[in-house]
Formats: sequence, structure tokens, C-alpha cells
Amino acid sequence: MERTCIIVKPDGVRRNLIGEVINRLERGGLSVRAIKMINAEIETLRKHYSAHVDKPFYKGLEAYMTEGPIIAMIFEGFDAVQRARGLIGHTDPGQANKGTIRGDLGEDSFEKADSEGRGLRNLVHASGTKEEAETEVKLWFEKEEILE
Ligand code: PPS
Repeated sequence: MERTCIIVKPDGVRRNLIGEVINRLERGGLSVRAIKMINAEIETLRKHYSAHVDKPFYKGLEAYMTEGPIIAMIFEGFDAVQRARGLIGHTDPGQANKGTIRGDLGEDSFEKADSEGRGLRNLVHASGTKEEAETEVKLWFEKEEILE
């Protein structure tokens, strides 16, 4: 069965949206396989966002992801990667469709974040591809943390 890595970002944790995010993913047909609350390490974030570390927005993204604890999770299910992306919605909450997590619960937009000179607060991360999912699962979780 396919797996995907989901992270509730610091704004989602701060706003008490952990249960809501899990609930929506579960209702969407996905099951939790592993879950933990942690403070993201800078080094882990640099690996997680390795494709983006040289982009102008990276510093803001790193500052945002270390504002507070995050929830790292592994979800499993049929077509888990694409299914989770669909349930979460567009990267920019300001453009995300209603019915998606970012569309319904997001309070930020690229426009707002840019005008305030900070990272975009978009609540949740989900792996983009199956390959990314497997890399992220190994990056965020020890083998013993994933129960069979
Ligand atoms: S790109 O450049 O098109 O490949 O970027 P994209 O796939 O849209 O986004 C990659 C991840 O970077 C996050 N991102 C940002 N974070 C903070 N501030 C700004 N301005 C910003 N732009 C992009 C975006 O949310 C993606 O992270 P995840 O965790 O996957 O959502």
C-alpha cells in the first residue's frame, strides 16, 4: 500500500487544527501509520526542502517551520500521495478550492506573506511524489517508530 509523509506545520499546531487535519485525511480514505510531535531541526529541514534551499523564499520557510512544534505523520492508502495532495489543496491557501484543508482553514496567501516579508503559512505539507514520500518517511522517522 502507498505511503505519504504529512506534516502539520507550526501554525496548524498553534491553531489546534491537528485533529481536523487528521480527520479530513482519514475521512478521505487514508490511515495513520506513524505520528509524532517534534521541533524540526534546521539540518532535517534543509534535507527535506533540499530542492528549495537556494530559492529566495527558503529563509522565510525555515523561520516558519521552526516557529513551534510540528506533527510529522505517515499516512497509508490507495494512491496516498495524490489523494493527500488533493485533500490538502493548492500551495497558496488564497487560491485553494473550498472543501480542501488549505481552502477551508488557511488564513494566509502569497500576497499577504510577501507584503509582510515572511514565509507563507499554509498549514500542512504533503509529499509531492512517491519517491519524495519514501525519502521523507526515512528522513523524519526511525524504523522502530513505524509499527507493523
Ligand atoms: S516551486 O518553487 O514551485 O518548486 O515551489 P513549490 O512547489 O510551490 O513550493 C515548495 C515548498 O516551499 C513552500 N513555499 C514557501 N514557503 C514559504 N514562503 C514562500 N514564499 C513559499 N513558496 C513556496 C511550499 O509551501 C512548499 O512546501 P510544502 O511544505 O511542500 O508546502
